[in-house]
Amino acid sequence: MNVTVRFGDVHAHDVLIGRGRLADLGDVVARCAPAHRCAVIADATVTALHGAAAAAALGAAGIDSLGLSFPPGERSKNRAEWQRLTDALLQARCGRDTTIVALGGGVSGDLAGFVAATFMRGVPLVVVPTTLLAMVDAAIGGKTAVDVPAGKNLVGAFHPPAAILTDPDLLATLPAAELRQGFAEAVKHGAIADAAHLEWIAAHAAALAAAEPAALDDLVRTSVAIKAAVVGRDPWERGERASLNAGHTIAHALERCSGFAIPHGDAVAIGLVVEARAGEAAAITRPGTADALARVLLRLGLPVRPPGLATAEVLAATRTDKKGRSGTPRYALLRRPGAIARTDNGGWTFALDDSLLARALEHG
Ligand SMILES: NC(=O)c1ccc[n+]([C@@H]2O[C@H](COP(=O)([O-])OP(=O)(O)OC[C@H]3O[C@@H](n4cnc5c(N)ncnc54)[C@H](O)[C@@H]3O)[C@@H](O)[C@H]2O)c1
Ligand SMILES: [Zn+2]
Repeated sequence: MNVTVRFGDVHAHDVLIGRGRLADLGDVVARCAPAHRCAVIADATVTALHGAAAAAALGAAGIDSLGLSFPPGERSKNRAEWQRLTDALLQARCGRDTTIVALGGGVSGDLAGFVAATFMRGVPLVVVPTTLLAMVDAAIGGKTAVDVPAGKNLVGAFHPPAAILTDPDLLATLPAAELRQGFAEAVKHGAIADAAHLEWIAAHAAALAAAEPAALDDLVRTSVAIKAAVVGRDPWERGERASLNAGHTIAHALERCSGFAIPHGDAVAIGLVVEARAGEAAAITRPGTADALARVLLRLGLPVRPPGLATAEVLAATRTDKKGRSGTPRYALLRRPGAIARTDNGGWTFALDDSLLARALEHG
């Protein structure tokens, strides 16, 4: 199955989804991003697990490939690693006729994507997501970035890929805790845009938590379609894309306050529930929405209550979120499960009183 992601009149590409499709990587590169050479960038874990299969798929289509790897984890998503990878491409005499393949989770997508966005002023990128979070979220939307000391993702570029190749077979090696991170973003997609998807997730939570292939396939297809639709309506993040930040203002604050000990998806799960509770208290969100979300998230093994962090510190951290306007945190709130709320003048985000958030954070 294919989903098309459109970036206005400027660009469109397909997300090619199917089990075993990693074997098509050479054909996809030849068709969507033909190049003299291909550089496959992946973290060391993904290189060990899936690097050889990617290189073989390229080789079968007669494409010469160079493998570059970096240490796994968010800590590699920085300017030093961007520089090291860029210099390695130059050293290998790669030129403008190089296609970058970002193989891996969201870290590889963002880091290798930023290398592709900047190398020789931009070379084609093909993304092969290997985590559920990357398949349903990070790979879609054309954003690339690295982290800097001032914050996450603060230096980057829009650089939509030529294609995304999504092979759910690659999830077989993914640890359960990583799979769960993707569930949180899939629940978010249902929560903001598709009540039926949310109900489907609730009904199939046990199968999803057990990583049953058929359930994962359906989840990936629907979630990719939802995110692609939102991106298509607002490719450069001027309006509706803000709805994808539901749960994220609190999530980012929890991540920062915990020194990034709370994984992103876990933080999003808690953030969705806390923000829904605050939205209910502000009479923006339909009563019962927070509890309904909590039930689904718990069934997927996700946390829904903030760990013992000081409320005042979490609220202070919301004020340094880069998406806030002049220090006032903004919240993408639900109207009800499956629908985002709009402000009276058509805006996508709300300011909320700290007292409402404090109560939602401390809800038992
Ligand atoms: N660009 C965007 O729009 C966007 C959106 C959401 C998130 N992100 C970014 O995505 C990143 C998080 O992505 P992530 O959670 O995929 O992290 P990640 O890329 O670090 O992957 C998580 C872990 O799983 C391992 N792994 C990956 N695939 C595997 C597989 N198939 N089998 C076994 N292990 C595997 C990795 O080695 C890593 O240790 C963050 O940096 C975030 O900022 C970007
Ligand atoms: Zn997220």
